[in-house]
Amino acid sequence: MKKIVIAGAGNMGLAAARLLDPNRVEFLGFADNDPGKWTKEDGSYPDTADKTPVFSIQTAVNLAPDEFIISAIDKERSRAIAEQLKVCRFYGNIMSLHELYEDFDIRSRCLKELADRISGAAGLPEVPGAAAELGVYKGDTAWQINLFLPEKPFYLFDTFDGFAEEDIKIEKAFALSKAEAGEFSDTSVGAVLERMPHPEKCHLRKGHFPETAAGLAHTEFAFVSLDPDLYEPMLAGMDFFYPRLNEGGVIIIHDYDNTRFKGVRQAVKEYEQKLIAMGEKPLKLVPLGDLHGSCVIIK
Ligand SMILES: C[S@@+](CC[C@H](N)C(=O)[O-])C[C@H]1O[C@@H](n2cnc3c(N)ncnc32)[C@H](O)[C@@H]1O
Repeated sequence: MKKIVIAGAGNMGLAAARLLDPNRVEFLGFADNDPGKWTKEDGSYPDTADKTPVFSIQTAVNLAPDEFIISAIDKERSRAIAEQLKVCRFYGNIMSLHELYEDFDIRSRCLKELADRISGAAGLPEVPGAAAELGVYKGDTAWQINLFLPEKPFYLFDTFDGFAEEDIKIEKAFALSKAEAGEFSDTSVGAVLERMPHPEKCHLRKGHFPETAAGLAHTEFAFVSLDPDLYEPMLAGMDFFYPRLNEGGVIIIHDYDNTRFKGVRQAVKEYEQKLIAMGEKPLKLVPLGDLHGSCVIIK
């Protein structure tokens, strides 16, 4: 079996470790330049770590792995770590995740496949209902939804002013993320609308969700993207959209399996527990296996 060390014990490193093939790869642990993340000499772990060993780069090289996977997303940092590995006399294989992360998008592929099934483009009966995205930012995902579902009304929900103070208070109170109020504010309704291939189908709902869903109580949905990053709007998103999702419809969730935004998984879990307590079936949830930790819920 190929022996592997992942350089970088941050969120991307953890996501990559979860995707390793246990039939082909022996995962020796992480290497990191931050001594605060290292496994202690007595074998115990820092409070923040899961139970995977974290070594210094030199200690990890001494374990003689066949390959290092560099998990830094930033190109320059990735290059710097590759240099450091050479200085530490590592002569094996080096793989950089930033190229894979930048150039391949599993979520987009999944979006297209699901949209084709829902719109009738794949020769299946169309799932009735509108499309929606909560957490639009600059519209990188939204324009694709609008392109793949040209006939569907499309509701785009965002403050367009970044994270709201009230949602951030909850993040901080329960240590769910390090997000700050106002992050993602460098966007606008006009700039997003300009990118849309079918702007006549778009309904931009600017402001704090769920208040911006007012008047849509009787709207049905077929395709929903939830990407607000934070616990409170994520729970509100499940509360609002899941009961209004038609059979065969899908909700695609970003950051579900992402340790940077723990509130997303927490919100989905709480919503599911509520469903079960009401005598309804658990969610049909499928992880996508991308580096963002996305998942899909199918009704
Ligand atoms: C990670 S960004 C979305 C990225 C986007 N889906 C893309 O494809 O690039 C998260 C967005 O969620 C929005 N957001 C978070 N909480 C919100 C709330 N309660 N109401 C409205 N928008 C919210 C933020 O303003 C931010 O633009």
